[in-house]
Amino acid sequence: MALIEISNLTKHYSCGDETVEALRGVDIGIETGEFITIMGQSGSGKSTLLSILGGMNHPTSGKVTVNGTDLYALGEERLADFRAGNFGFVFQSFHLIPYLTAQENVMLPLTIASLKGDEKRQAALQALERVGLGGKADRLPNQLSGGEQERVAIARAIVNRPHILFADEPTGNLDTANSEAVMALFRELNDEGQTVVMVTHNPENCQYTDRTIHIRDGRVI
Ligand SMILES: Nc1ncnc2c1ncn2[C@@H]1O[C@H](COP(=O)(O)OP(=O)(O)O)[C@@H](O)[C@H]1O
Ligand SMILES: [Mg+2]
Repeated sequence: MALIEISNLTKHYSCGDETVEALRGVDIGIETGEFITIMGQSGSGKSTLLSILGGMNHPTSGKVTVNGTDLYALGEERLADFRAGNFGFVFQSFHLIPYLTAQENVMLPLTIASLKGDEKRQAALQALERVGLGGKADRLPNQLSGGEQERVAIARAIVNRPHILFADEPTGNLDTANSEAVMALFRELNDEGQTVVMVTHNPENCQYTDRTIHIRDGRVI
């Protein structure tokens, strides 16, 4: 059985009288240790698919199992625990808190009560070092470049050592040099064993990954 199994997934959104069929029957299997890109044009259903894989958006029908766990058969509370224990997320718009330093932003997911404040600081610093920002831990987001902010977001996503790292258009706001650096970083993390599932509309990102799944109008093509 694959690490992530997606079977016959559909997602419909209703907007007033209209129904948008964002996903129309998607089947995918993702193995442990893979680096997958999900490619498609704007509006093809990529973010919807990723949010459902990540346990953040209930499907209309179909099933997602991760490590044998049927995600949406869990109640909300257990689903939230499962997410926190297994998944890391990186988004295009960083979602950094502007009045917290890079290190404090990276500490945010470390809610585990058993960790002391010092241990949290240490873990966050290690994650920042991993993405090449050990020397900028005390900077606020607006004192960092776009590429650096994205790397802080990646540090925050890996600080809990997640089984699966999800990224939605992580290079969407970056210039070419910063995009390449961020993709190379994902590649390195994957070489160290991290499973990565990335959504993108940029074909250049695919050269870094093991496998590309193309999606159009809510279907795998
Ligand atoms: N919350 C929502 N409510 C209504 N329609 C949505 C919502 N989210 C996405 N959609 C629609 O679903 C389709 C797929 O969107 P999305 O998954 O964001 O695609 P992509 O990430 O590939 O651009 C689009 O037509 C979009 O307008
Ligand atoms: Mg999207």
